[in-house]
Amino acid sequence: MSGILEIKNLTRCFGSFIAVNEVLFSVSRGEMCGLLGPNGAGKSTTIKMLTTLLPPTSGSAKVTGLDIVRQVGAVRRVIGYVPQGLSADGALSGYENLLIFAKLYDLPRKEREDRVRAALQFMGLDGAADKMVRDYSGGMIRRLEIAQSALHRHYLGTRSRHCA
Ligand SMILES: Nc1ncnc2c1ncn2[C@@H]1O[C@H](COP(=O)(O)OP(=O)(O)OP(=O)(O)O)[C@@H](O)[C@H]1O
Ligand SMILES: [Mg+2]
Repeated sequence: MSGILEIKNLTRCFGSFIAVNEVLFSVSRGEMCGLLGPNGAGKSTTIKMLTTLLPPTSGSAKVTGLDIVRQVGAVRRVIGYVPQGLSADGALSGYENLLIFAKLYDLPRKEREDRVRAALQFMGLDGAADKMVRDYSGGMIRRLEIAQSALHRHYLGTRSRHCA
């Protein structure tokens, strides 16, 4: 596999309006990439396509070699996503929020607690694990959401059956 992300002429139209016009780029493993542009440039529409929430009108993209149209389920298993708006449930603790994501990612039951603890530690939230998220600061909620989005990854702890 040459790139973690391979995007070829990705296009999305809404009626006759072209929101994303033949976007073409690739990102290598270990590389960080920022998608910048003015309001309405098509960034969110591009991300929606890459996260399989919106089908492209034409073009193609592969995430870790997986096709975003033909391998939707597999793509969803390998990506983590932190939305712009705060999304953690304030009525639950940080630990409980992460446990829900561990279940959504279908992590093996016996690994879930270790993975959640490792994610909390990785983001410096182990001391706040049992506190209600409504009592977190904005920055703490952001860190919790990053932990959620990365729960399925190797570097947070024990082995994931979903990662190569
Ligand atoms: N569901 C939709 N139906 C019609 N037009 C849409 C739809 N979603 C997005 N658009 C249009 O597509 C264009 C790109 O929108 P998009 O949300 O991708 O921009 P963006 O780069 O994320 O902007 P911002 O910086 O404001 O978040 C805009 O002109 C927007 O109005
Ligand atoms: Mg946007």
